Amino acid sequence: MKGLVYDGPRSVSVQNVPDARIERPTDVLVKITTTNICGSDLHMYEGRTDMETGRVLGHENMGEVIEVGGAVDRVRVGDLVCLPFNISCGFCRNCEKGLTAYCLTTPVDPKMAGAAYGFAGMGPYAGGQAEFLRVPYGDSNCLVLPEEAREKQTDYVMLSDIFPTGWHCTELAGVRPGETVVIYGAGPVGLMAALSATLKSAAKVMVVDRHPDRLALAEQIGAIAIDDSKASPIDQVNEQTNGLGADRGCECVGYQAHDPQGHEHPNLTLNNLVQSVKFTGTIGVVGVFIPQDPGSPDPLYKKDGEIAFDYGMYWFKGQSMGTGQANVKAYNRQLCNLIQLGKAKPSWIVSHELPLSQAPQGYEHFDKRDDGWTKVVLHPGS
Ligand SMILES: NC(=O)c1ccc[n+]([C@@H]2O[C@H](COP(=O)([O-])OP(=O)(O)OC[C@H]3O[C@@H](n4cnc5c(N)ncnc54)[C@H](O)[C@@H]3O)[C@@H](O)[C@H]2O)c1
Ligand SMILES: [Zn+2]
Ligand SMILES: [Zn+2]
Repeated sequence: MKGLVYDGPRSVSVQNVPDARIERPTDVLVKITTTNICGSDLHMYEGRTDMETGRVLGHENMGEVIEVGGAVDRVRVGDLVCLPFNISCGFCRNCEKGLTAYCLTTPVDPKMAGAAYGFAGMGPYAGGQAEFLRVPYGDSNCLVLPEEAREKQTDYVMLSDIFPTGWHCTELAGVRPGETVVIYGAGPVGLMAALSATLKSAAKVMVVDRHPDRLALAEQIGAIAIDDSKASPIDQVNEQTNGLGADRGCECVGYQAHDPQGHEHPNLTLNNLVQSVKFTGTIGVVGVFIPQDPGSPDPLYKKDGEIAFDYGMYWFKGQSMGTGQANVKAYNRQLCNLIQLGKAKPSWIVSHELPLSQAPQGYEHFDKRDDGWTKVVLHPGS
C-alpha cells in the first residue's frame, strides 16, 4: 500500500510500505478515506522529536471498515468509523476511568502510558496517512459514524483529535457559562478550543496569535482576535477584562512557542498565561511539551525539558493547571452528536483537501504556516 513516510527533518515522501493487516483477533482493518495533517506532525516533521525515519505518519484518521478480526463483536464491515488518535484497550485501570490517553496496555514500554498512530514516543503503531490502517482493540476504538458522515467527512474527521482536544483544553481549564477565556494559539487546536468555549457559553473568548488568516477564523465564530505582533497580549487581555485577567486560560501552542519575530521560547505561552489569567484562575495545557528537546535553543529545555516557569507569580495568584494529551474517547461521542444536530461545524477551519500523493506539499505549506494553509485534509483513496 502507499503511505506517507518520515524521511528526516522536513522531508516526507509517499512510498510503498508494508500492507496494514489484521494481526490480532481484536483488530479492525480500515480503508482510510480522510486523514489530517496535525500540528503534532509538525514537531516530528521539523526533526524536533525522536521519530524514527521510515515510519508512516498520521493520527487523525477516519475510513471504512473492510475486515474485522475473529474477536470483534460490535464493529461491522462497511461501517464508517472515526479513530481516536489514542490507541487504548478500554479495560485497563486508566481506560476504566476514561483516561484513554494514558492506556496501560497499548504502550510497548511498560514504564509508559498511552499510545498513538504514527507518533514519536507513543509506540510502534503505523500511522493512517496511508491507504489502510490497522486499528487495535477495534470494538473499543472505533467510533461508528452516522450515515451522513459520508458526505461530511471534513467535519467528522475532526473527532479523531483536534475537536476533542480543544474541548479537553476547556475541560482542564474548567470553562463554565458566562466566563472569560483566553486561548494562546489560533492553530487548529486553539480554534477548536475557541469553538468548545463558545459551545459552553463562555461570555468572551479571546484568541492570541499573529497570523491574520488564523485570527480571522477565530473571529468567524465570534471570538476576539488578539494580535500579539501589534501589542502585548497581556495588556490586550487586561483591557478586555477590566484589568482583572481572564477567568480561564488555554495553552494550544506547545514547546515550540515563539515570539512574533520567530525566536523560540518554550516558557513564553505558559508565562503569558500566568500574567493574563486572573487570581485563582485555571489554565489548561494541551500544547505538547516533551521530556527532552535536543534541538531547543533554550539550554534548560534542551537538556531535560525544564522551563523557567513564573512559578512565584502562579502560586501568588492561586492559579491551578491541568495538562496532557486529550482522552479523545471521553468526548468523541457527544461531540459527534453536536455535529450531527448541526450545533458544531468544525470543518470551518479546513483550507485544503489533497490526495495522498500531494501530502509532501501539504506538509511544506502547513509547516511554514503559509497564508491560507490553516488545516490540511488528505484523501488517500482519491
Ligand atoms: N494534547 C493533545 O492531545 C494534543 C492534540 C493535538 C495537538 N496537540 C498540540 O497542540 C499544539 C497546537 O497544534 P496545532 O495543530 O494547532 O498547531 P499549529 O502549529 O498549526 O498552531 C500553533 C499556533 O500557535 C501560534 N503561536 C506560536 N507561538 C505563539 C505564542 N507565543 N503566542 C500565541 N500563539 C503562538 C502559531 O502562530 C500557530 O498558529 C501543538 O503543540 C500540538 O502538538 C496536542
Ligand atoms: Zn493531531
Ligand atoms: Zn487501557
